[in-house]
Amino acid sequence: RPKACIFDLDGVIVDTAKYHYLAWKRLAKELGFEFTEKDNERLKGVSRMASLEILLSVGGIQIDDASVKEQLADKKNTWYVEYISQMTKDEILPGVEDFLKMLKENGIKIAIGSASKNTMTILNRIGIKDIFDAIIDGTKITKAKPDPEVFLKAAQELNVRPEECCVFEDAVAGIEAAKAAGMKVIGVGDPSILKGADKVIQSFVGQGIELIEF
Ligand code: G6P
Ligand code: MG
Repeated sequence: RPKACIFDLDGVIVDTAKYHYLAWKRLAKELGFEFTEKDNERLKGVSRMASLEILLSVGGIQIDDASVKEQLADKKNTWYVEYISQMTKDEILPGVEDFLKMLKENGIKIAIGSASKNTMTILNRIGIKDIFDAIIDGTKITKAKPDPEVFLKAAQELNVRPEECCVFEDAVAGIEAAKAAGMKVIGVGDPSILKGADKVIQSFVGQGIELIEF
């Protein structure tokens, strides 16, 4: 059984994936093209600037000026922050809080491993910051998923070896990152999309300790 569990934030603890999508869709619309849910899968777990690059390639738009790209990413983030600043505790995904408590009762350490620079804002809004033994977010890393940096840093801060960790992820890039870190990974979402995971769950409702027994 793993000694620690590392949770992605967006799409695992809270459904902020929908707000990221809304904000990117709004930017695409302003740039003159439609951005679909299918295209959006490629953005999940990916850093803000890398997401912008993917969005622009979907729209067939080429921008070379780095400051213009910064402005577009800032615009998206301003909208996104507007959406998440309205979030409440009820937006914690079903079963998550009970699952986290159950892990702690079983002596398992828990951490957040997210690419988002807005992690602290979200955790403060939903009021579950203190339960985590470590929080590694987009402000503490230089390499985005699928690079394993975020998860390796979390393991280090928890004082456990990578192979003693189990990651929970809703994104393909995140699953690749966890595998590259040498960790077990449980996908949260659609098994046909999250093929690389060791297991896939639809939700945390009713999940017990046996979930992380491999
Ligand atoms: C998470 C989300 C991505 C997002 C990234 C950066 O990984 O899944 O959709 O682009 O964080 O988030 P940020 O809040 O820093 O723009
Ligand atoms: Mg995610």
